[in-house]
Parts: sequence; structure tokens; C-alpha cells
Amino acid sequence: MANVPLSRDIEAFRAIEISHLARQLSARGRSVIHMEFGQPSDGAPAGAVAAARAALDEPDMGYWESVPLRKRIARHYAEDYGVEVDAQRILLTCGASPALVLALLTAFAAGSRVMTARPGYVAYRNSLRALQMIPVEVECGAADRFQISARAIREADPKPDGLIVASPANPTGTIIPPAELAEIAEVCRVRGIRIISDEIYHRLSYGAETHSILQYDPDAFVINSFSKYYGMPGWRLGWIVCPQALVADVRARAGNLFLSPPSLSQQAALAAFDCEEELDARVAMYRRNRERLIACLAKLGITDIAPSDGAFYIYASIAHLTDDSLSFCKRLLEDTGVATAPGLDFDPDRGGRFIRFSYAVTTDMAREACTRIEAWFRDNFPNAG
Ligand SMILES: Cc1ncc(COP(=O)(O)O)c(C=O)c1O
Repeated sequence: MANVPLSRDIEAFRAIEISHLARQLSARGRSVIHMEFGQPSDGAPAGAVAAARAALDEPDMGYWESVPLRKRIARHYAEDYGVEVDAQRILLTCGASPALVLALLTAFAAGSRVMTARPGYVAYRNSLRALQMIPVEVECGAADRFQISARAIREADPKPDGLIVASPANPTGTIIPPAELAEIAEVCRVRGIRIISDEIYHRLSYGAETHSILQYDPDAFVINSFSKYYGMPGWRLGWIVCPQALVADVRARAGNLFLSPPSLSQQAALAAFDCEEELDARVAMYRRNRERLIACLAKLGITDIAPSDGAFYIYASIAHLTDDSLSFCKRLLEDTGVATAPGLDFDPDRGGRFIRFSYAVTTDMAREACTRIEAWFRDNFPNAG
């Protein structure tokens, strides 16, 4: 039997390459500011860390899934969106990444065509390919807030089997307005297109409200995690909300592929729900970082920026400076110690002309990054501003 090259066409994250270089610089004693990953620099909130410490003394560190945490997540849907979700429909996963794999594997067969926005999170394209599915990437621009529109879905020919939406999105942070999200749900219902909504950046918005797809489509899959708002990326914990009819199918796949989520993280995550004050203070800090960075970039002549409604990203065009964002990011890092992500990760076509900054850093780090970038521009692009 012929070998099927399962990893065919799966590219590595360029941001990981940048991060690797950044760590080498740190090891050599250089001061590095990490803005390449969407990773809150503050870590887990204090209440979550305390709960984890206390849990270390408990005997039950085996394979289990926390019922209180699933119930708490169900309550979150009622409180934040006014949507009743039976806790039975919620499965805990090792982050949003396995939740995406579970949703794709349960909803679609190999060969299925699934629409995603370009620019978009690189793992959508690559997870689809790894599962022998076909990413149908729709080039999105400023007119549609870099998001797939209901119109694009209505006009898609042939009809895709599925759609992945993310609002706020990575890399842009743009949010789909509620009327548009409702229309997307309606078009998908009429055309028989299954929706997976990646809501990992919910609770991170700076004006526009975030709405769950469950407000418009009870049969959508939702994936989410504790990696972003809750500041717990390395704790590897997330969840999936499944359509009622598919809960047993998802559970069967989850058990076989991933067994159970980390016990310690489940204890910590339950406590994280009570840390809103600390976490919301961080969102306020991200808001200030965002304003500072936008003002800094404007001074340097970088003004073509996707509307950064939420998440903690700025996705900016540097087309007037380069069409090789990877080399640009490497040079910026080597010269200044500021690590950023090249747009190529999110858009293989136009991404050479874009850069993504993550501003989930402390106020001091954001201030220092701006100082270094401004000095670098004065030396390298004196006429840019
Ligand atoms: C849009 C999006 N979805 C999913 C993930 C994966 O997150 P997790 O750490 O929960 O696996 C990320 C991580 O950056 C992301 O940006």
C-alpha cells in the first residue's frame, strides 16, 4: 500500500521560528520583548495559581473531566450571551487546538471543503490539510473587516461543507457585527453549511461587543479555551460546545484521541472564573497598549491597520517598506530585540507585506517596544513617517 504523506503542504508557524531566534538572543543576554505570540505575558491569575497549589495536595490527579467546570462554563453562556447550554454539551479539551480537531473530525469527512478567511489563523488551513480536508480560503479585505461575509457564503459555488469563523479574529482582531453574524448563521442554515465558531478571543474587545454564534445557531460547534483572556496558554485547557445530536460522537473521538484534559488545570480554571477583576484590569492594560502602539506606528507612517476591535493584535500593512515580512521581522528582532510575527503565517499570498504585533504585554514592555521601534525606524527608514 502506498504511503500517504499526511503532513503534505503543512507549513511550520513562522512565528515559532521568530520565537526561537528571540530565545537564542535572550540566552545571549539580550533584552527581548515578546510580541510574536498571542500569549499574555502576565500568566494565570492569582486565584487560579492558588487553586492549583491547593489541588497538588489532593489525591485525584487521574483521568477525569470536571463536572463543576463544565457547569460553570454553561453558566458563562447564560450570563454573557443569554444562551442556555446544557453542560452535557460541553467537553473539556487540552486547549482550543484539539477542540478544533474534534469539531472538524466529527462534522466533516475527508475531502470536505471548509471555508476560512484569509488572513486567518494558520492552524485552520493546516489542521484541515492534516485531516485530508480542503481549506477554501476566501481573500478578505478592509471592506469586510477582513472577515468572511454572509454575501461571500451565499455566493460560494460550489457550496462548501463547512465554515470556520473567528470573531475577534487572529491576526486582525476584527469583530463581526451581530447583524452580519446572524445573517451568516442564516445563510449557512439555508445552504446546509456547518459552522465552527472559534471564540477564543471573547472577552477581549475594546468597543464592539462579541456575540456567540450560539445566539444564532444552536447547532454550531463552538471552541474556546483558557489560553487568552484567562492568561493560561501553557495550562493546555479549553472546551468545545457540541450540537446536541453529536455529543456522543465528539466524546468518542475525544476519549480515543486525547483521553482527558489535565487534572491540575481543571482545578485552576474553575477558580479563574472568579478572577474577573484581575483579568479585566489586564484588558484595560491591553487597551492602553493598543492605543500606544497605534499612535507609535502612525508616527512611523504605518497607518494601514485592520480595525483592531478585539483580541490583542495589530495587523498592519508594511507594503511601502517591504514584501518580505519574514526578513523584516528577523531584522527588527536582531536589531531591537522586539519579536513580532510576519504576516506570511496568516496569508501566504499577501502576508509578505504585513506584520502582526501582539500587545498582550505589560505597559512597560509596550512602552519600551515603541521606543526601540521608533529609534530603529529613524536609522533604517528616515523618510517613512
Ligand atoms: C484563533 C486561535 N484559535 C485557536 C488557538 C489555539 O489555542 P489553544 O492554546 O487554546 O490551543 C489560537 C492560538 O493562538 C488562536 O489564535
